[in-house]
Amino acid sequence: MFVNSHPLNEWITPEIQDRNERILKRPPVLDIQKLHKSFEHKGKPVEVLREIDFTAYKREFICVVGPSGCGKSTLARLVAGLETIDDGQILMDGAAVNAPGPDRGMVFQSYSLFPWMTVKDNVMFGMVESGMSKLTAESEALQWIDLVGLEKFADSYPHQLSGGMKQRVAIIRALANQPKVLLMDEPFAALDPKNRLKMQQYLLEIWQNIDITIFFITHDLDEAIYLADRILVLDAHPGRVKEVVNVPLPRPREEETFLSPAFMATKAYLESLVHHEDEEVEDMEDKLKMVRMVSVNSEVPDIF
Ligand SMILES: Nc1ncnc2c1ncn2[C@@H]1O[C@H](COP(=O)(O)OP(=O)(O)OP(=O)(O)O)[C@@H](O)[C@H]1O
Ligand SMILES: [Mg+2]
Repeated sequence: MFVNSHPLNEWITPEIQDRNERILKRPPVLDIQKLHKSFEHKGKPVEVLREIDFTAYKREFICVVGPSGCGKSTLARLVAGLETIDDGQILMDGAAVNAPGPDRGMVFQSYSLFPWMTVKDNVMFGMVESGMSKLTAESEALQWIDLVGLEKFADSYPHQLSGGMKQRVAIIRALANQPKVLLMDEPFAALDPKNRLKMQQYLLEIWQNIDITIFFITHDLDEAIYLADRILVLDAHPGRVKEVVNVPLPRPREEETFLSPAFMATKAYLESLVHHEDEEVEDMEDKLKMVRMVSVNSEVPDIF
């Protein structure tokens, strides 16, 4: 008898299994096929991504994790059309991507709002650029601003907002252009844990209410598990697909989700897949050894 022994199988209930199967039957929105990418480093090509194959389906929430330097941001930039593809292809609704387009919105870790524009003008910007009348764009922008609870800040400037508020504006500014895919590269990494959780909850709520596929890059495994339907795990040097993990958690996700045994099992499994023994850490170890070798000045009081 065939025994399927994936460590997370015991947490996949029939409901979760059923949901996963239904997701895979939806139309593909983002289709990455045999993607290769190298960069030039000191005159030599360095392979960053090797044969990435991955499909995201309509209204799916995908998180991408992997060690630092494995090519996560490069992958997002390739999908956004901000980098050129060496080999393979990226399809959006079946059409090849080779430049940025309104079907892909992007939110980065650093706040990318126009500092000289008010919140409302920031949100209106893309809509007006694409030919919408100012009046309609303004009324749409105000609805988006309401949705994320920033109605009192519509006429404020970015520097008057907290980090979490700025990211809420960045998200609605991207969504106001009605992209099919929202690409997010560590958007909450600079926030404190409380605000980060709030932003994750906001994002889930928005995602549940609109037709959008989210491709969300993060270092934080808890964040990936809390948000994602599936997690794309990349390996480093070169970046390759290590595994695509089905998250065995029902929706809607609550704060208690973080404490459930299925969550802990998923985290332990992801930790076993993502090794952070990258060069940077090894470098740091060497530096620490050197510091320890420096003889202690006797005038420095012993701190132990
Ligand atoms: N424009 C570029 N020119 C040359 N090398 C680049 C360029 N962009 C990225 N790289 C290299 O590609 C590799 C992958 O970088 P990338 O930023 O995609 O990794 P990452 O997984 O997002 O890392 P992190 O988790 O630290 O954000 C790194 O070795 C980086 O130095
Ligand atoms: Mg990155």
